[in-house]
Amino acid sequence: MKSLVDLALSVGLLACHGLAQGTGDEVFAMGVGPVVLANEGPLVPNDYQRPLFSDSGFVIRGNTTAGEEFHIWIFWYRQLGKEEYVVNGDVMQVALLRGNFTEEDQSHMNNVPFMNKGQNLEDYRHPGTMRVFQKENRVTWQFEGISSTAEQGEWTVKGSYSDLDVDLNIRPRGNMFYHAGGFADLSGCENETTSTNYNCDGVAGGIIHVSASGTITANGTALAIDQAQGVHERILMASNVPSRLEVGLGRGSFWLHGWGERFSWFTFTSEQGPYAVGMVNIGNESHVTGGNLNVTIEARDHWLDPETDQVNPTGWHTTAHFENGVLEADVQAFGRVYYYWLRNGGLLIVNQMTANMVMRYSPHGGEPVTDKGGAFMEFMKTFYEQPK
Ligand SMILES: *[C@@H]1O[C@H](CO)[C@@H](O)[C@H](O)[C@H]1NC(C)=O
Ligand SMILES: *[C@@H]1O[C@H](CO)[C@@H](O)[C@H](O)[C@H]1NC(C)=O
Ligand SMILES: *[C@@H]1O[C@H](CO)[C@@H](O)[C@H](O)[C@H]1NC(C)=O
Ligand SMILES: *[C@@H]1O[C@H](CO)[C@@H](O)[C@H](O)[C@H]1NC(C)=O
Ligand SMILES: *[C@@H]1O[C@H](CO)[C@@H](O)[C@H](O)[C@H]1NC(C)=O
Ligand SMILES: *[C@@H]1O[C@H](CO)[C@@H](O)[C@H](O)[C@H]1NC(C)=O
Repeated sequence: MKSLVDLALSVGLLACHGLAQGTGDEVFAMGVGPVVLANEGPLVPNDYQRPLFSDSGFVIRGNTTAGEEFHIWIFWYRQLGKEEYVVNGDVMQVALLRGNFTEEDQSHMNNVPFMNKGQNLEDYRHPGTMRVFQKENRVTWQFEGISSTAEQGEWTVKGSYSDLDVDLNIRPRGNMFYHAGGFADLSGCENETTSTNYNCDGVAGGIIHVSASGTITANGTALAIDQAQGVHERILMASNVPSRLEVGLGRGSFWLHGWGERFSWFTFTSEQGPYAVGMVNIGNESHVTGGNLNVTIEARDHWLDPETDQVNPTGWHTTAHFENGVLEADVQAFGRVYYYWLRNGGLLIVNQMTANMVMRYSPHGGEPVTDKGGAFMEFMKTFYEQPK
């Protein structure tokens, strides 16, 4: 099975030789299945020396019992290797956007303050600061005072980082979509031998939709979650870490999620490649698709962000064609977080959007079903890459 990033490399090479670009249709890993505890763990030894990108994290989008809308981003990263990282390091990132938005406010973008900590060079810690370990039937990611524990098919995220304090219980909603490849396809990364996997090589991982409950404390103000859904990501790129600067060229890559009561979905597109994948959770099933003929994300409306003086989309229309039906959704953003990823040789800019969506799923030969709910967009774009 080829992963999105493997292809990024091969397409990059082809492009160098002036050959035609691939369509991206045939290149995605399409594995779907439950979360496997060992794959939530480190899979490589703590003193692994080869290039590495290993992450685990959550985005939660919901409302609070006091009626505020929010999204929170909580991610753990280890990044090693000279190719694109400025320094080797362990990085923790948290971001929060929250506010009282009337129904009218939710129909357009608003300039609402947000908090974000992580991703700047001064936030990097020595590799080893973050501890990732499996003990019996429990996997823990610990970075200073904040940790995530996977146990019995659920996650607990607890502790503080910067001026945020969290106590969350997170449960799966549907299956994991291994869009970056299956862990079984990695070479030299047997889950029984994590401490000696010095030759671990390959790319694996993906996302799973989740539901969340608990409390977020921001600067001492406790926000109790009323209803929230989200996404958990676990990705491992070992030995060969593809260039994000290259994949982010052009209009960049778009990670879009929507959660209704009856359905949830995910669509991803990237201009480079081009690449595209989609997932829909319906009933108790997860369906996936791939290729830029099957999955589209089209920007609707734009907003001049008064803080950055940059123009960004505020809404999207997305479609995904599955074997058994067609998903269409309209997404409206009403708040945003922005930051950057500094890379060796360039810079990526990232925007996260708090959003709502309406969706329709039309099963082939059946009645279309509609739903609505919260949504989240993350888009990453190479802002600048200097000549090598
Ligand atoms: C390793 O993975 C296999 C297959 O996914 C699983 O059955 C096994 O329990 C895992 N081993 C450990 C130590 O978690
Ligand atoms: C939170 O959102 C849900 C779903 O839209 C809604 O039913 C509920 O009333 C909201 N809670 C509050 C406190 O506004
Ligand atoms: C939302 O409104 C409540 C009640 O007026 C207020 O206490 C809270 O600070 C507001 N939240 C934000 C982020 O302004
Ligand atoms: C805490 O307060 C500071 C100062 O007002 C602000 O910059 C920061 O964003 C706040 N953090 C959170 C999590 O609300
Ligand atoms: C989904 O699974 C739950 C729990 O196993 C069950 O109660 C429910 O009936 C299932 N729903 C569908 C649509 O199959
Ligand atoms: C994606 O699109 C291609 C071309 O239209 C089609 O042959 C393929 O079956 C689609 N894949 C899925 C998973 O629906």
